[in-house]
Amino acid sequence: MSKKFSKEPLRGMRDFYPTDLREVNWIKSIIEGIADIYCYEEFEGPLLEPIEIFAAKSSDELVNEQSFVVEKKKGERLLLRPELTPTLARMIAKRSQEIKKPIRWYSIPICYRYERPQKGRRREFKQVNFDILGEDSLYAELEIFNISVDIFVSFGATADQFQIFYNNRRFIDAICELILEIPEDKIPLVFKILDKSDKMEESEFEKYVIDSFQDEFIVQGILKLKDSDGIKELLDKFDNIPEKFYDSEGYKEIKSLEDLINETGLSDYCTFSSSVVRGLDYYTGTVFEVFDTGKENIRAIFGGGRYDDLLSLFSDEQLSGIGFGMGVLMFSLFLKTYNLIPEFVYERDFSDTVYITCVNENVANYAIQLADIIRSEDFPCIIDYKFKNLKSQLSRASELGILIALIIGEEEMEQNKVSIKNMAANEQKTINSEDIIEEIYKILDEFEEKNEIEDN
Ligand code: HAM
Repeated sequence: MSKKFSKEPLRGMRDFYPTDLREVNWIKSIIEGIADIYCYEEFEGPLLEPIEIFAAKSSDELVNEQSFVVEKKKGERLLLRPELTPTLARMIAKRSQEIKKPIRWYSIPICYRYERPQKGRRREFKQVNFDILGEDSLYAELEIFNISVDIFVSFGATADQFQIFYNNRRFIDAICELILEIPEDKIPLVFKILDKSDKMEESEFEKYVIDSFQDEFIVQGILKLKDSDGIKELLDKFDNIPEKFYDSEGYKEIKSLEDLINETGLSDYCTFSSSVVRGLDYYTGTVFEVFDTGKENIRAIFGGGRYDDLLSLFSDEQLSGIGFGMGVLMFSLFLKTYNLIPEFVYERDFSDTVYITCVNENVANYAIQLADIIRSEDFPCIIDYKFKNLKSQLSRASELGILIALIIGEEEMEQNKVSIKNMAANEQKTINSEDIIEEIYKILDEFEEKNEIEDN
């Protein structure tokens, strides 16, 4: 016997069977509805991009450790996109003169990251992206937070099940520079340490900070940045804050955002968190991540933030943007944790499908003609090509939950007729083939009326 290949997809990749895809498509359709009411337009970019556009401003880790590299014949190295944001910046830079601002775009691309597959993380994944560019005010932040909340709420989630944890990189910069007096070239290390902090035990984190900074005052300062969940609470931990700190852009921005969140009723859904800084280098201001508040899903479901100069990779134009990426897999795990996926999502609804049974192969062409008529009226239609006995064909129809079956015998074909069966009422009659659509509507209407009476 010849050697059989593995039935498994490559590690970290996933096969989507129709039932799996039904769940993904259901999630996508609700999110697309939200994109529609916020007036975000869909875009797509290529799966392959030059490595440089990610190397420049995304993160070393993403490019050097987490990438699928494709080599072209002449040695040019391309990347299977690990994220969409640099592509978005490239596309906007290319047509910036023509596109009206602010730009509101969304996309649901497949991305690739060479990560260790684990709960909520795969090497191939779908990621919902929403971005607004050309709106510098904090109202853009607010809109992006509102979209994030609406996504969760429209699936039935409540504020006690998820939270947006937000922070501002300029604010952390100001703390490092003006309060802790950390040399400018060492500040990126603070961001790196904070970004890793939620993946570390307390003692491991402490050791990491001490190894990175020997100065006791700085070490204590960085330790305070972990796990502070209020701006005032955090600042209360520091003595002698200089006045110029309160004049800094970072402080003013985070305070204004906090005020806006409180004034617009978003505070139930949003919590300040000083350790959220994000691992991607292009973020400059507001940064945020959305987490399940329970213990079940520990990884971020959304991640996003403001990037002021990503377009500078491609042009001299300065156009600030803010947006987020949401892993569809993480979101689906979250929905399952809280039982927010209704059963019907996994079942194909055949109630308006017409099932054509044929007594033998002689009537097959007539069945195909009838199916054409039915489908041209937008009714789904299945023809049974097994030509087994009628009982088994009808029982297959009944297994699928079919309401309307057609029975075609040679006599019906010769007389241009068809027998139509209401499977729910177990009623059958023979009609002229030209009356078929009218009869389908009649059965569907009767069924709906009966259901309404029963529901009342
Ligand atoms: P990110 O934090 O790298 O941000 O990814 C955003 C989300 O994508 C994560 O929170 C997670 O749900 C999902 N995700 C990331 N990696 C994987 C993986 N290996 N498997 C499954 N899901 C994953 C970005 O990608 C930014 N470009 C988002 C953004 C858009 N910022 C501004 N606009």
